[in-house]
Parts: sequence; structure tokens; C-alpha cells
Amino acid sequence: MDNITLNEEFNSIIRNVVNDVLLERGLITESHINTEEIIKSTYNIVDEVVTIDYSNLSKQIYKIIYNFKIDKKFWTYDDLTGEDYDLRRSKPAQYIKTTIKIAQLLNLKTVVEIGSTRMAVTEKCLVYYNNEKEAFKSPGCCGDGHSTFFFTESGFNVYSVDIDENCKTQNEWSYNNLSKKLPSNLHLIIPKDGIEFLNEFDKKIDILFLDGWDKGTPNYAEKHLEAYITAKDKLADIHLILIDDTDYITHDGGKDALLTPYLIDNGYIPLFNGRQTLFINTMNFH
Ligand SMILES: C[S@@+](CC[C@H](N)C(=O)[O-])C[C@H]1O[C@@H](n2cnc3c(N)ncnc32)[C@H](O)[C@@H]1O
Repeated sequence: MDNITLNEEFNSIIRNVVNDVLLERGLITESHINTEEIIKSTYNIVDEVVTIDYSNLSKQIYKIIYNFKIDKKFWTYDDLTGEDYDLRRSKPAQYIKTTIKIAQLLNLKTVVEIGSTRMAVTEKCLVYYNNEKEAFKSPGCCGDGHSTFFFTESGFNVYSVDIDENCKTQNEWSYNNLSKKLPSNLHLIIPKDGIEFLNEFDKKIDILFLDGWDKGTPNYAEKHLEAYITAKDKLADIHLILIDDTDYITHDGGKDALLTPYLIDNGYIPLFNGRQTLFINTMNFH
């Protein structure tokens, strides 16, 4: 496992360096970087990871967390301005990438996300996601994270749920923009209420990504807690809970205001926090 992980990281570093040099020398423009190549080489297909070295898993997770070094900002007020969002707020890309690394290490397969991509992905989003080390700035459309696309392209079986019909179109446009077919591992359950979906879902969930009910909308924190409780019996023996918009230290707090204390009370282990917070239910891998 160590070798596989190192290989991936090495390839990814080399590719990024080559792209940077070519871009810097004007030999290519961002649009010349072949989208398919970027996608193929960057995202390790989960099915390829078949052997798990259980004895070493927790150490490997700790290494990933240790190497996840990014500037963070927590907000002390709730009403962010447009400039706060665009220039000063942590962006989700690095958090999503780190979650994907951990999930791949654990050979997890099924993602359920409540709150789908609401802005289509374009080539510039891939370039940003693959190369960007900047914690606070991104192309405008990447401010939410485009989680649906990046989980799907990493090979997970993704069930993406949203109440807003527009998200279906945006997801379809992502693949149109990149001249790709909508992949068979992406299941768009749109429009659908997240809680209703979780009540009806009849498969095991490996990664539950809670990013619905926007901060400031009625009962947003209660709804995220309710979503977890509704999903609880469907969570796999080893699973991850990822929550977005957790970067508020205000009275109202972020989407996890009620869920984080509940998860900690119930034995979950926080792996990182910041713009997004990731929990794992156990570090005992036998
Ligand atoms: C911040 S966006 C999700 C962004 C996405 N995860 C990404 O990374 O690009 C939040 C989404 O939650 C959706 N939402 C709000 N209420 C919902 C509900 N009751 N059920 C499902 N989705 C809901 C909104 O329509 C919106 O598209």
C-alpha cells in the first residue's frame, strides 16, 4: 500500500511540475492540458485498490492528515460578504482531495452526498483542482467544491441528492463541457429531499457527505444532524462522515453546529477540521 500511495503522489507531483514549467514557458496554455490525461492520471480508480494492509492503516491515515498542511480561517461573524467568500474563505478542494485519499486507502466505495454540485465544472476547474496550493482563492465556480464531480471521477459509486432541479442540469453540463459522457457510477437523485432519500436508501454508505441546507436557512444545523441520524443504520462498519461549511466559530455555527458534538459524544474521531470537517467512526482496523 505504501508503494502504491507513494507512486501516485510521485506521479502527481511530476505531472504538476511538468505542467507548471510548460505553462510558465508559454509552451502550452491551460486549455492545452489534455483533460482526459489529467483525469486518468490524477484519480486512482477505487476498484484497483484490492489489498488492504490492516496492520498499518491507522499510521497511513495519520501520515495523510499530518501532510494535509493548509492555511485555515475560521469566521467570527455569520454574514460573509461576497469578497469574504471569493478571496478570504477557505476553499473545499484540498479537503475533498484529502478525504478521497483516506477513502481510497480504506477501499471505501459508496458515497452519498446530500447537496450536489450546483455549478458546472469546466477545464479550468480541473487545472485548479490538480495544481492549486492556494487555500483561499479559486475560480468563482469552485467555491462550493464540485464534490460530485471529483468523487465520481475518483471512481466512487456516487449517489448525489439535491432538492434543486438546477443541480441536475449543472452536473450534466459538467460532462458536456469536458466532452465526456455522464458516467455510470454517478447517480443523480434530483430533485429529492435529502432526508427523504436517506430514509428510502437501501444500500450501505461508506462516505456520507453532508452539504445540504445552506447556512442561514431555517434549521440548517438541525437538518444536518437529522440527516446523519436518518442514515445511521445504513453506514458501513468503517465509514467517513464529511461535513462542509464548518468554518464558523459564531453562536449559530456552521452546518456541523449540532452534528459535530453529537458525533464526538458517540465515539467518532475527528480527522481534520476547517472549511470541512471529516470524521471516522473507528481507528481499530481488524
Ligand atoms: C453548498 S451546495 C452543495 C455543493 C456541493 N456539495 C459541491 O461541493 O459543489 C448546497 C446544496 O444543498 C441543497 N439542498 C438544500 N436543501 C436540501 C434538501 N432538503 N435536500 C437536499 N438538498 C438540499 C441546495 O439545493 C444546494 O444545491
